[in-house]
Amino acid sequence: MLAKLFFISLCLFGGAKANILLTFKNVMLTCETDNDVEELAFVTSITANRLKPHLPSGQDCSKIAIEHSMIPILYDGSLADITRVNILLLEDNKIEQIQPGAFRNLKVQEGMSLKFNRLTEIRSGVFNDIQVPFLYLSYNYISRIDRDAFDNMTSLRSLYLDNNKLAYIDSNWFKNTPQLRKLVLQQNTIDYIPAFAFNNLAMSRYHSPEVDLSNNLIRLINRDAFKRERQWSRFNFVSLAHNEVQDLSLDWLKNVEIKTLDLSYNRIMCLNRGGLAGANSVNYVDGNPWICTCLQEVKQKEFKKYGQVVAEEAFKRCQI
Ligand SMILES: *[C@@H]1O[C@H](CO)[C@@H](O)[C@H](O)[C@H]1NC(C)=O
Repeated sequence: MLAKLFFISLCLFGGAKANILLTFKNVMLTCETDNDVEELAFVTSITANRLKPHLPSGQDCSKIAIEHSMIPILYDGSLADITRVNILLLEDNKIEQIQPGAFRNLKVQEGMSLKFNRLTEIRSGVFNDIQVPFLYLSYNYISRIDRDAFDNMTSLRSLYLDNNKLAYIDSNWFKNTPQLRKLVLQQNTIDYIPAFAFNNLAMSRYHSPEVDLSNNLIRLINRDAFKRERQWSRFNFVSLAHNEVQDLSLDWLKNVEIKTLDLSYNRIMCLNRGGLAGANSVNYVDGNPWICTCLQEVKQKEFKKYGQVVAEEAFKRCQI
């Protein structure tokens, strides 16, 4: 009797434990080497917590893909120690949670995609220290990002957070990400850009960052939003298109150079205090409810105080 009970509890415990720890359950894994045409790719079904031991031995996967599966939780260690892969695709897997350590010692030469999953937050300890130049987190439900979630990603060049549920920007993000120069935040619900918001992006004589903030709910831009704490600030491209900007603060572009500034489709009627990007820049300002006399004033400063001003429809409407 006692033995029987013991046996039953062992089964229950064993079963429950296996359930909890398996990241991959009957999941199709594809590995393509550099020379493969698609039909020759290595394909296998895996049930395991760790992916690494299931990769073909003796050959490197240039592209590893697990897609259109059901992987609610990426447990600690599940993709750890994979170091020779160019592209890692984990798209459309209904991933809800990534445990810290899931990507420990991961090195991806090009890009990693977690697009089209169900992530709601990015926690500290998930991405720190992993090596990946292009990281795609688009099309999730991310509304919270830990302050240090992306710190120490020393290879990160481009981060795609578009089509999520972010309502804020934290100027403390991205400490020690010396290569990061493209940040895509379009299609979120951001309503405010705080002071020194992009202070930690890589900025040098050779690299000026690109920031896409289009299609958010931005109403307010802090007058120091695009500034750097101790130096000139230079952006290659800033898009604020399709937001709710009505007013630009005085001197919001003082000591800030933006090569291409997109302010189209906002609520700007007049540049009361704030200006546009200066000489050698292009300013897109169409799709705003311009008061014609104000737009006329802007036009008069084109190629002088401001760079080029592009507003085809508004110029036509105002007969400028
Ligand atoms: C980033 O690196 C620094 C220096 O090694 C370390 O003190 C810090 O804890 C790291 N941050 C994270 C979030 O891992």
